[in-house]
This record gives sequence, structure tokens and C-alpha cells, in this order.
Amino acid sequence: MTSNELRRIFLDYFHKRDHEIVAGSPLVPGNDPTLLFTNSGMVQFKDVFLGAEKRNYSRATTAQPCVRAGGKHNDLDNVGYTARHHTFFEMLGNFSFGDYFKQEAIRYCWELMTEVLGLPPAKLWVTVYEDDEEAERIWFDEIGIDRSRFTRCGEKDNFWAMGDTGPCGPCSEVYYDHGPEVEGGPPGSPDEEGDRYIELWNLVFMQFNRDASGAMEPLPRPSVDTGMGLERMAAVLQGVRSNYETDLFVHLIDAAADITKSTDREDKSLRVIADHIRSCAFLIADGVVPANEGRGYVLRRIIRRAIRHGHRLGTAEPFFWRMVSALEAEMGAAYPALVRRRAHIEQTLRSEEEQFSRTLDQGMRILEESIEGLEGGAIPGETVFRLYDTYGFPADLTADIARERSLEIDLQGFEREMEGQRARARAASRFKAREDESLDIATAFCGYERLEDESVVVALLRGGEKTQSLEEGEEGMVVLEKTPFYAESGGQVGDRGWIRSSKSTASTPASDSGFEFEVVDTCKQGEGAVHVGTLRKGRIALGDKALAGVDETARSATARNHSATHLLHAALHLVLGEHVQQKGSLVAPDRLRFDFSHPHPVSRDERHRIETLVSGWILENSQARTEIMPLDQARQSGAIALFGEKYDDPVRVLSIGDHSTELCGGTHVCRAGDIGMFKIVSEGGISAGVRRIVALTGEGALAWVQTMTDRLDRIADTIQAAPEAAVERLEALVARNRELERTLSQLQAQTASTRGDALAAQSVDIAGIKVLATRIDDTDIGSLRQIVDRLKERLGTAAVVVATAKGDKVSLVAGVTRNCTDRIKAGDLANHVASQVGGRGGGRADLAQAGGNDPSGLDQALRSVGEWVQERVG
Ligand code: SER
Repeated sequence: MTSNELRRIFLDYFHKRDHEIVAGSPLVPGNDPTLLFTNSGMVQFKDVFLGAEKRNYSRATTAQPCVRAGGKHNDLDNVGYTARHHTFFEMLGNFSFGDYFKQEAIRYCWELMTEVLGLPPAKLWVTVYEDDEEAERIWFDEIGIDRSRFTRCGEKDNFWAMGDTGPCGPCSEVYYDHGPEVEGGPPGSPDEEGDRYIELWNLVFMQFNRDASGAMEPLPRPSVDTGMGLERMAAVLQGVRSNYETDLFVHLIDAAADITKSTDREDKSLRVIADHIRSCAFLIADGVVPANEGRGYVLRRIIRRAIRHGHRLGTAEPFFWRMVSALEAEMGAAYPALVRRRAHIEQTLRSEEEQFSRTLDQGMRILEESIEGLEGGAIPGETVFRLYDTYGFPADLTADIARERSLEIDLQGFEREMEGQRARARAASRFKAREDESLDIATAFCGYERLEDESVVVALLRGGEKTQSLEEGEEGMVVLEKTPFYAESGGQVGDRGWIRSSKSTASTPASDSGFEFEVVDTCKQGEGAVHVGTLRKGRIALGDKALAGVDETARSATARNHSATHLLHAALHLVLGEHVQQKGSLVAPDRLRFDFSHPHPVSRDERHRIETLVSGWILENSQARTEIMPLDQARQSGAIALFGEKYDDPVRVLSIGDHSTELCGGTHVCRAGDIGMFKIVSEGGISAGVRRIVALTGEGALAWVQTMTDRLDRIADTIQAAPEAAVERLEALVARNRELERTLSQLQAQTASTRGDALAAQSVDIAGIKVLATRIDDTDIGSLRQIVDRLKERLGTAAVVVATAKGDKVSLVAGVTRNCTDRIKAGDLANHVASQVGGRGGGRADLAQAGGNDPSGLDQALRSVGEWVQERVG
């Protein structure tokens, strides 16, 4: 029975018994901020159980997608290591809201399992809550189950609650017994964690509402919530022991093997990828986006874990997003959102993958080095933190890698580092005023005209709270009556500089006792501008006279980048088209960053045209003019305004020659020529349809060009060419290299056939089949394959296996000629040898390859091949 059929049969069964078929709810619970993800079928009915919500049905049935990752129920760490854990699974359930109770719930369950789905009662095991005599009586007297296959269990197993508070109740569970050949004991026994008895269906008799104090109030009406794991039931019905062998997964595993070019279908990384694509695609379809906190961070962790497993399989290109089409083929019919949102899901995964792959290699190197130098069994907390902080490795990803090497991570050490970072962030945020602290001060800005001005201290803040004064060494914020400092807005960063005691007034004390406040940033608080920084000298108090001076170098660099941003914007319109809209902008002293809507990458030629246009305008050296005018007039004059932005009226309009006119409150150069030089240094996509350009101006642009030409010089030196001729020389070298590789592989093929010919003589005849099992060291798997092909050709009717060992790694290739694959399969032969050298393998009937990590057993394994063939054909 396919899983799709099982889902259908379940829903139909309950529909025929007056249950409303209700669609599964989204994975992000709409009614419960305390819950990370929908983790069971009852989540969408929580308020119905509590009596706070009414529906026009009292019985329901659902197929509910669930995610158990990150939150209280977290199976992420187990995926890849067991046959039954998933980050995403489907729960089939039936619900009664004050309608039927224990008796019908038990009857339905048993009838569906044994009569409709045909499970033999002798394979089932039932549990009830320890004091639930009523349920026990129903199972014994009304259903008549075998009393020797029954246990009463305590609260841990048989009292179900969605979370710490909310609806809950005793439950009764039905397990499937996979038989004595699997390890594990029945529920309630000490070894119940094994894989022999698998819970299939949980019937919860919802009776109470638990409040925050732990007290339990009876629900208005006793109810029923049941949940059956679709994947586990499918495994039982399809006669396989692992969920990953069911139809739900085989095609996904095929796709993962195909995309990552893996031959070993048992590799756990394939299972991880097949599992993770399900949770990731469903979460993205339900609106979750990868982020650094909350639900988005759980998604990011799952995606990164999947990417790392692809990397483990040797995949260098983005691959994970390519799994989406296989998932759509598998589940799109039952979940149309996968089809509708496919492009979005692929795009989201792809950009996450591109982003992470930039640091993955580096992070892996750091980790490998740390593992190599490791004394003891745990990766130090600082390494785990560094990987997290610098390379974007979530701690559970590092833990997953550690687990593969039988290591642990020092989680406590990691937490200590995290706490240290949080403390640093808290200290930094003392710089920022508390959100609710209303300054209610409007600061006048005089920074368009001058960079230094006299003013008076009108407010001071320490740790976000107002204060009368600041003492030497203290961090805090200073608010002046008027200031030349530009407060961060419109993408332009805040000015830095100094506020010193003003010596120009009679009331100011002598210069020795004057103060110096270093401004590291300036931000807006309502209408006020706050100068953020540290009092380096003296004492500053309300009412003090002050001289505020902006760091001129930083300000002019910022102004160059701001004016260049306007010119870039205008050039983008001319080169790419009028559809280009600003989506984000950062103007800092050291660079400018501009995000804009455009459907494809900006080509090299387009980038050159943009640079040429902007440089032309810089050379023209037109004046930058500002005008204050009514908003309407500004719009009519064609000034660029940002969609959705709120503007004052009247507005400030900045134009540079007649090339660019924009509404803008920022600070700019006087003439375009002040920009000096303009250079785009990167272009890339940041989300669907949004591109980002980073560019430099003035001295920054020159420094960049110098670095790049230095690099070119070094390349030219290395390949012994003049820089002007480096490209041609490099192309010739690459072509030559390709040629050499071709010659090398031809030589390898020749060697392989010579070796094959020489080896052919060593084969022995077993019932008409030429059998050969041998070892050739110092060779690679590609050559082994060629040798095996050659041997098959030479021997005509043959079963051969050739192995090589290097260090503690064994690789082997088995081949069987097609005329005897009905008797011997190459996959079995490869497995026979591999299983004796600590590995396993598989492949086609005529050719298979395998690996292992215990070369000490190799010779004996090869010797055993003759006998093995004999048993099959003798
Ligand atoms: N809520 C119960 C569970 O998750 C039954 O659906 O097991």
C-alpha cells in the first residue's frame, strides 16, 4: 500500500464515521506564540478542546504536517542515526470535541488497524496510563486483546501534553512488534528505546487544562485527540524496517544520490538530505525564512545541516535546492502549496546555500585542524563558538560532525562564549537609548553648512536613562541644542568626531578641567540627535557650553559615497531600465552599498557602461545643488522618491548637474568632481529579484585598484608572463593542462588493459565462470573500473573483484559479465568483500563499487570469493 493510499484510507475511514475532513494547519501555529512549530495534529484544535472556540462539527480527521526540530520536541539531532526519527513527518489523526470518548476511540483504532489495514493482532502491543482502568477494561473486555501483550505505563509515556500548559490527558498507545531479530524490549521495559517495538498510534483522552501553576482543571467536555505516524505505519505496511525504505523516501533518496553522485545508497547523509528537504520546503512554503533567530534560525540550522551532508558526500555545487522538484513529484498532489510556491522555495534554498557555501569550506578546515590537534574527546567551546560566530556553523551542525568522529562538543564552554558575546552586546547597547525613553527634544542640524559649531548640552544619558552629568571614562550619550553631526538616516551612517568644552565663553572653567567626549556614532531619537560615545576627559553636565566638531575626513568620504550613490542610481536607470527601484542603501565612509530591483545579474558589459557613465559625470564636474520645495512640486519635477517612504513637506531636493535629482536629506559633495574615482567592486543577488552593488570612491577606489593590480602582477610573475599577456598565457596553460590530463587518462587506460590482460591468466574456472579476486595497490577507483571492464571483456563469462588499499581506506570494484548476472550479482559480490573490510557497497548487477576502512581483512576477504561463488553456482 502506498503512503498516498494510506493517507486516503485513513481520512475516508473517519469521514464515513461522520468526521469532517479538515485540512492540516500551517506549520507556524496561528494561535500559539509559545509553540515554535505545529508538532501534532491537535495544535489547530487547542482552543476547541478548551471550549474557547466553537466549530460546526464535533468530530474531525486530519493529515497534519508536523515539524519537531528546535523546540521542546526536537528530533533534529537523531536524523540520520535512527530508522524512525524525522524533522518533518505527517500525523494522521481523529478528534472528538466532547462527542465520543474512550470506547469509540479505541474501537475505531483497532478496527482500522486490524481489519482495514490488516495488521495481525499478534504483532501489536497496547499500553494505557497507569490508573486508567476504564481504558484497560475496554481493551480487555470489549476488544479482547491478548493480556500478555499489554502494559500500564507512567506519566512520562502515557500522559500527553502539548506543552507545559494547555489541554492534556492520559493516553493509550498501540505499538508494532518488528520481531525478536530486532533489538529492544516492550514499552515500559528497561530497553524500550530499541527499534523492536515502534509506537504507531497514540490515543489521547483529553480531560484537563493545565495552568501555569501545574493545577489541572477538567475540560468542559472530555475529548479525544489521536495521532498515527504516517511514515511508521507505511514502513509496517510495506514490510520494511526503516521509514527511509518506504515509498515516501525511496525517490527522495534516489534524487539525493543522483544529485550528489553517490553510489552508496545506505549512506546516512542521503537520509539526512531526504529528511531535511521535507521540513525545509514545507517551512518555507508556510512563510518561514532563514534568519538568525526564532523559527527562521531553526530553518537555517536544518538547511545548513543538509548542505554540510552534501559537502560530506563531496558535492561542491549548490545541490539542496535541486531536491525540491523530487519532493514536489512525491508530495505535490497532497500538498498543492509545494507546487504553487516551488519557485520561491527553490530560490530561498539556493540563496541560503550560496551564502553558506562561502564559509563552509573554511569552517570545515578550521574544524578539521581543531580535531587533529585534539586532546580528549570534546571539541572546545571556543572552537564551536568561533565556527558559529565567524563561519555560520550552528552548534548542532558542529555536534553532528563531532558525533561522526565519536567526539562531543563542549556545550558548556560554548554557552560561556555565547554569554560573553551577549554581555558585550549588552554593553554596546548601553550606547543606544532605551526605546521607551522619550527625549522629546528637537535638535537643530547645522551640518550642511559647517562641520564645527558652538552649542549647549540639553540632555545626557547613561545606560539609556537620563542623567545630570557624566564622569570621565563613562559611556553615554550627549544631546545638544543644535549640532553639525549628521544623525544616521536614509542609509547614510551617523557622523563621528568630538564634543569638547567650549573655551570661548567666560563661564567655562580653565581648559585643564574641560571635557572631551569622543563621538563614535550619531543616531536619531524622535526629532533629537544623540551623540553616542565615551567621555575621555573631565566631567560633562547639563547646561555646559560645548564645541561640536565632526571628523572631517570621514564626513567627506561619506559625502563622496552618498553623491556617487545618486549617480549610480541614475546610471542604473539608463543602462538597465526604468524598472530599477531602490530597495536599500548604505552610505558609509569606506564604501557604498546599493540594493535595487532587477530580475537578472548585471553583466560585465553593463557594469562597465555604468562605471563609464558615472565617471563621465564626475569628469564633467557639475555642481551638486540643494533646493527646498513643496513635495508636490518636487514630484512633478521628476525627482526620484522612494516608494512607501514618508517625506516631510516641504522637502529637500538634491540634483547633480542634470543627471540626477532625488529627494534627500543627506550630506553631499559640492561638485561631482570631488568624488574623484568610482569603481564597482561587487554585484550579486540578495533575494528574488533584488541585486546588490558595492562600490568605492576616492581613495578607497584607488586602493582597491592597486590591490587588484598587485594581484595581477603576482599572477603574471607566477606564470612568467607580462601582465598584459597573462590572460593568453593562462588560457594556454589551462588548455595544455587539459591535454595532459587526457594523455594521462589514455595512459592509465592502456596500463589498465595491460594489467587486465596480465591478470586474466590468474582467473580460475568455477562451473564455467572465470573467477578472479585480486588486489592492486597504488591505484585509484577509476583505474580499478577500467581494469574490471577489461577483464570482463577478456574473460567472456566472469565474476571479478579488484581492490586497492591506501592508508586505512579500501576501495573495490566488482564486475559480472551480463551472461551470468542471473546467477551472481556484482552488488552482492562487492558487498560480500566490503562487509569483511568494515564497509558496504552496492550498484548494478554487472558493475558495483564499495569501500571500507579495515584493510587488514582484505586479503582474507579476497580469498573467500571463490568459495562464495561456488556456493552460488556450484
Ligand atoms: N497529540 C498526540 C501526539 O502527538 C496525539 O495526536 O502524540
